[in-house]
Amino acid sequence: MDALAPAERSFLDRYPGYRDTTVLDELRQTQYERLDRLGHRYLDYTGASLYSSRQIQEHAQLLLADVFGNPHSSSPTSALATRLVERARGAVHAFFNASPDEYIVVLTRNATGALKLVGESYPFDHASRFLLAFDNHNSVNGIREFARAARAAITYSPLVPPDMRLDRETLSSHLGAPGETTHKLFAYPAQSNFSGVQHPLDWIEFAHARGWDVLLDAAAYVPANRLDLSVIKPDFVCVSFYKMFGYPTGAGCLIARKAVVAKLHRPWFSGGTITVASVKGDRHYLHSGPEAFEDGTPDYLSAPAIEIGLNHIAGIGYATIHARVQSLTGWVLEQLGALRHGNGLAVARIYGPLTTEARGGTVAFNFFDQDGHFVDHRTVEDRANDMNISLRTGCFCNPGGGEVALGISEAELSACFSGTPSSFTLDDFRLCIDDKSTGAVRISFGLVSNFADAHHFMQFASRFVDKRASEI
Ligand SMILES: Cc1ncc(COP(=O)(O)O)c(C=O)c1O
Repeated sequence: MDALAPAERSFLDRYPGYRDTTVLDELRQTQYERLDRLGHRYLDYTGASLYSSRQIQEHAQLLLADVFGNPHSSSPTSALATRLVERARGAVHAFFNASPDEYIVVLTRNATGALKLVGESYPFDHASRFLLAFDNHNSVNGIREFARAARAAITYSPLVPPDMRLDRETLSSHLGAPGETTHKLFAYPAQSNFSGVQHPLDWIEFAHARGWDVLLDAAAYVPANRLDLSVIKPDFVCVSFYKMFGYPTGAGCLIARKAVVAKLHRPWFSGGTITVASVKGDRHYLHSGPEAFEDGTPDYLSAPAIEIGLNHIAGIGYATIHARVQSLTGWVLEQLGALRHGNGLAVARIYGPLTTEARGGTVAFNFFDQDGHFVDHRTVEDRANDMNISLRTGCFCNPGGGEVALGISEAELSACFSGTPSSFTLDDFRLCIDDKSTGAVRISFGLVSNFADAHHFMQFASRFVDKRASEI
């Protein structure tokens, strides 16, 4: 591996667009200086983005400047808190260009909270269908349990290795399948949190034309890619704000199309979601707006930090963030893909596309030793920890992605699931799957990643060259 300066020069020759993103270097020095002061190499932006010091200061100033009570009443302090929540909602509408005439914004704790709202409220029945991409996050996979309880048909649409993209023909036939149905829900990630693949957004209109409602999991996509809901029109979108701008951590949203919200049915009511409820009368009326989906007291003090964070991203601009993430990802894909042991064997196997075309800044892979044996991802994580590198290992809550990438068959999985849940540990599972790693290593770039982060990672990767797994 070249030293940093010459490596950066050749990187810049190869990715000249990176030069247009230097505003992010200034930002890193001023607003994220703790990263370099503490020597962190942060490579887990798909896990969580990082917040700037200004976001925290602005939020603290706002909280210190007034007195906020519990919303939902008309006292002055309550009205102020209600205004915070309404402002956050408005900021989300504006940021995603989601017309309030067409979409509602429900504030949730995270993307998972948004997904659960859809799962529990969608009118699944024995004549409905739930179609999913194979590489959904578990918080989307979990919706299948609501579908299953209602005896809906559940289908997974496959991915094609090694690129891990959806199989166009099979997905078209799943979406176009004839038959009498009631409600049909198709759920897929705009960007896979396993492979970084960006699945085509034109599936949304293709599915609409065939009578499907579409749930777009945008959690891994929107940190570095613009989603314009005046152009792209899924019925449900889920987002976690900490994945976009690091803070606050307890806030996400569901953006839902009013036309489809009308057919949702909440399985219960609670404080905050109703206009009236009666004990003697045994009836309740739900709110007609997003409040119907916001159980209990909203996180009204975090709400202003959402607007601050969205302004932070808008101020930098997606073009800049995207260009930086794409350049660094492209360079790492090339370098890691080309890394060889002395005997010519590849040091790493990358799961997903090897170019930056229609992919984001998430790269999943495993290291292989000089004899071709995979290096246990837990060992890789330990070695990365030693170098103050924050990366992720395992299957990232995306079991389908892992199963396809690692070539684990249905028969192997069924055999491993035959034990009783109480006796079943992750280690049992690993032993059962035998010589296949039950996970991978994942690095991901984001907002304030720089070339030194990517270079440091490649120095780390070079340490696996010409080694046996036992030596590592
Ligand atoms: C694609 C995707 N969807 C959903 C989630 C769930 O997000 P949260 O844990 O914030 O609810 C994640 C988190 O990693 C994700 O990457």
